[in-house]
Formats: sequence, structure tokens, C-alpha cells
Amino acid sequence: MMRLAERLRCKGRLGLVPTMGYLHEGHLDLVRRCNRLADSTVVSIFVNPAQFGPKEDLSRYPRDFGRDRRMLEKEGVDVIFCPNAAAMYPRGYATWVDVERLTEGMCGRFRPGHFRGVATVVLKLFNIVRPHVAVFGAKDWQQAAVIRRMALDLDTGTRVVVAPTTREKDGLAMSSRNSYLTAKQRAEAPALYEALVTARGLVRAGEKNAEKVKQRALAVIRVGSSGKVQYVEVADPDTLEPVRRIAGPVVVALAVWFGRTRLIDNIVCVPR
Ligand code: PAF
Repeated sequence: MMRLAERLRCKGRLGLVPTMGYLHEGHLDLVRRCNRLADSTVVSIFVNPAQFGPKEDLSRYPRDFGRDRRMLEKEGVDVIFCPNAAAMYPRGYATWVDVERLTEGMCGRFRPGHFRGVATVVLKLFNIVRPHVAVFGAKDWQQAAVIRRMALDLDTGTRVVVAPTTREKDGLAMSSRNSYLTAKQRAEAPALYEALVTARGLVRAGEKNAEKVKQRALAVIRVGSSGKVQYVEVADPDTLEPVRRIAGPVVVALAVWFGRTRLIDNIVCVPR
């Protein structure tokens, strides 16, 4: 991969879209964006064990390489990079990337070590491919913020582009994990986006009290679904510091369990 990437890099701008496979239209939007920004596109598919906790869904994470390959070939991707875990984390592996502060709240609070795994694998992918540009989805808002910080702090020279979340017609954010949902859970899951849109409406209408915004979002989820809320947070979109009084743009982010499936979503709200 390093030799191939070096050749592509000499020919023009090189783009990378890191994924864990089981691709959907949201991933393809990232690939299309990357194709527009770069002359060659590498898509990595690697279900990164380092970002899963011991009780998380690593072994049942959905995989279908044949389908992924067909989808990517249609988009005209130049290289699909699919390393295995032993190649990425050889025996004796001992080096990790810890991004401070940004990883403490939101998902980081409930998934200890998750962002260490993400930052580490993304830095490794950046070192292997050395892309001029890399594209990530905004659905993982905290992940995008962590990667942007890591790329800046560690001088990767990669431009990190964050693309808007792709949604189903009913508003549900696209995710490989949606495939876990039962029909009933799937029917209820759009309540998350509804809650976020409600929150955005309040902020736009001038609500300054973050707690009130949070409570309204929670109420929408509780009324519209059987999902168990892990968190709803109102935070600064860049630093991810919790906000109490809304005086500028905020991100409202949430994580909700539907049975054994944990869904996340977020929305940026700009007060009038
Ligand atoms: O968002 C994902 O799919 C993963 O966290 C990433 C960025 C590919 C790192 O494993």
C-alpha cells in the first residue's frame, strides 16, 4: 500500500476515505466528495479492534467485502485497502495516540479507550497512505473533532474534510449499525432526528438555556420511541465543552440504545 500510495501521490492529489466497511449511501457520499477533491482515491476497509470495548460489537460487526467492492468499483475508486488486524497491530504493538480533553465527554465518557483506538488507527492509515486529503462523516461529530485535532497536533499534513450526514428519507442517519435494528426499532429510530430538529428549532427561536433544549429533545425521544438514552449533550462544536448558556453555534449530540444497538446522531444549531 505504501508503494502504491507513493506512486499515486506523485501523480496528483491523493485522497483517503477510512471506513469499517459494510458500506451504505453515506459512505458513498464521502467517496464522491473525495473523488471531487482528489485525483486518486483510496478507501480503507478495516474493522479496527482497538476501538471496540470488550463488551462491544466487534465480532458481530457486519461485514460483506464482495458487496463493498462492487459498490466502490462503481464509484471509480482507485484502491481498496483492506489490511488485517495482525498487519495493523503486529505482535508487541505498543504505541497509542491519546487526544486529550476532546475525548472526555459525550461518547468518550461511555466508551473508554474508543477514541484512542480511532486516533491511533487513523494516524496509522495517514502514515501508510500519506493522503493530501481525508474525508470523514459528520455523524460521528466527536470523532471528526478528535481526528481534526490529532492531524493538526501531529503535523500529518493531511487536510481533514468533514462531510454532512447522509440520512434516510425519514431522517434516520445512515449507519452500518442500522442493519441490527428490528422492524419496530427501525420504525422508532427517526425519533432521534426529530429530537435534534426540535432542539435546533428552539435554539433558532432564541432559547438560551441548554438544559431546556436538552429536556425537549429527551421528551421527543421518550414519546416517540422505546430507545434508552445514554446522553444528550449541548456542546461547543469545536472544543466539545458542554454549554450551559447558548450564545453562539452549538452541537446537540446524542447516543441512544435500541435493544443491543447503540445509535448516535447530532445537529449543529446556530442561534439567530
Ligand atoms: O468512522 C469509522 O468508520 C471509524 O471510526 C474509522 C474512522 C474508519 C476508524 O476506524
